[in-house]
Amino acid sequence: MGTYAISGAASGIGAATRAKLENGGHTVIGIDLRDAEVIGDLSTPDGRESAIAATIERCGGTLDGLVTAAGLGPPVRGNLIARVNYFGSHALLTGLRPALAAAGAAQVVQIGSNSSTTTPNLPVKLIDAYLTGDEEGAVAIVDAMPEPFDGAMAYGGSKLAISRWCRRNAVTDEWVGAGITMNVIAPGPVQTPLFQAGKDDKDFGPLMEDFPIPTGEPAMPDLLADWIVFMLSPAARFACGSVVFVDGGADALIRSDAWPDTFPM
Ligand code: NAI
Repeated sequence: MGTYAISGAASGIGAATRAKLENGGHTVIGIDLRDAEVIGDLSTPDGRESAIAATIERCGGTLDGLVTAAGLGPPVRGNLIARVNYFGSHALLTGLRPALAAAGAAQVVQIGSNSSTTTPNLPVKLIDAYLTGDEEGAVAIVDAMPEPFDGAMAYGGSKLAISRWCRRNAVTDEWVGAGITMNVIAPGPVQTPLFQAGKDDKDFGPLMEDFPIPTGEPAMPDLLADWIVFMLSPAARFACGSVVFVDGGADALIRSDAWPDTFPM
């Protein structure tokens, strides 16, 4: 049985994943603002640092897996979304990497989103600010956007950057070379408090109503948890740097030909 850290374990997809891992006999170290073994605010450098230290102490320096599920979405303001979704997750990944390496064959699942590919006009300079670790730069870019679009841009941008960071880093000596396989799951609409808050908002609610779900209804968190548990299992060890869309078909509908694509030599 393994020891897994899950950020955002108090609610939604993180909580459902926790329950399935615990039912399977594994130990889970939840990291969240509340109802978790490690209480920490991933929006601040101090909160991230103390959450990482407390997680390492709890697991004794060895982690079999990590799921970065903590996140916020619109109508929360973009600057907080940027800090939690990208920089909070990134800090956990790099801060807990030595504990993952110590396990010898650890697995990481980052929660992305199909917003990464279905949000139009994500600014390249925002993605660059995320990927170069320029937190205050990313926040300044988002703060300069008109409400309520700052939240949608920060959100889609954070998920695109998470996915790109995973693809760039999963295949390096630091990650797969240390026995750690890392992948992203990109859900579509999932019935959680985050999703409901968006639906209840006067600006985002109508947009979310119009968002296509070719398979029909939003998913329940349990369904995503099944995928995440599979992505943490030995059967998933050959996946490395993959961005797995489990989104009812929206990405395929909206971006049918975007990928796979040809490339020039
Ligand atoms: P949720 O709201 O049910 O759970 C998010 C968790 O993150 C909560 O327990 C919350 O306390 C925690 N969190 C928020 N801010 C935090 C902070 N500063 N420090 C520590 N923890 C913090 O949301 P849900 O839907 O389960 O989201 C999980 C992940 O799935 C998020 O990354 C979200 O972006 C992603 N996602 C969700 C989709 C959906 O439709 N629900 C679709 C695609 C991706």
